[in-house]
Amino acid sequence: MQTIGIVGAGAIGAAFAKAIGNKGIEAIISNSRGPESLKELVRELGPTIKAGTRQEAASQEIVLVAVNWSKLPEALAGLPDFDGRIVIDANNPIEAPLFRPAELHGRLSTEVFRDLVPGARVVKAFNHLQPQMLLKDPASDGGKRVLFYSGDDDQAKAGVNGLISQLGFFGIDLGSISIGGKLTQFPGGPLPALDLVKLG
Ligand SMILES: NC(=O)c1ccc[n+]([C@@H]2O[C@H](COP(=O)([O-])OP(=O)(O)OC[C@H]3O[C@@H](n4cnc5c(N)ncnc54)[C@H](OP(=O)(O)O)[C@@H]3O)[C@@H](O)[C@H]2O)c1
Repeated sequence: MQTIGIVGAGAIGAAFAKAIGNKGIEAIISNSRGPESLKELVRELGPTIKAGTRQEAASQEIVLVAVNWSKLPEALAGLPDFDGRIVIDANNPIEAPLFRPAELHGRLSTEVFRDLVPGARVVKAFNHLQPQMLLKDPASDGGKRVLFYSGDDDQAKAGVNGLISQLGFFGIDLGSISIGGKLTQFPGGPLPALDLVKLG
């Protein structure tokens, strides 16, 4: 398994990192303030998770981005072309403290996000549950906790589903961004915050 890059080390970035660290998967996690500021966090995330720069994280084969909506342009500026690499959009177009939905001019948030990561194969995932649900044991009530994913590239989606399965969750492919992105968009879609378990 390749090293995962994580841009954003807040509630979602750190919860995702903890989940993959628990499975012994290697990752580089980054924030806006640089690796020094992440020393304490990575100690809690396990030996396979290292702190790095935004550029180092964004250079990995699979990159998860979990940054406040308004800060995404800055967080993704000046990075090398993604050149077909997989980028997971875990973001939602709303943020503290006002929780006012962002103006998307009729587009889906992942369509807006996609413009910020040229050359990437974007898969929307890890955005529909609160961070504490990513930290809970995905084996739940005799089944597996569900994570949704969607995207326009089947191979990229298979890669993300592989990661979801490795973490012990049950991945459900919701189809293209135009369909799945809409269903899991928060606010607006019907699926965010639904904690579902696949039995059997
Ligand atoms: N919290 C939830 O319940 C939840 C659930 C699903 C999805 N989401 C989505 O996930 C995303 C992150 O949410 P969160 O709750 O994790 O936010 P958060 O706790 O505020 O963390 C945001 C992270 O983004 C980093 N960041 C900001 N500007 C950056 C830049 N220029 N370069 C690199 N990193 C930068 C911050 O780093 P610094 O601290 O160094 O600035 C911080 O680590 C949002 O889009 C949110 O909508 C959140």
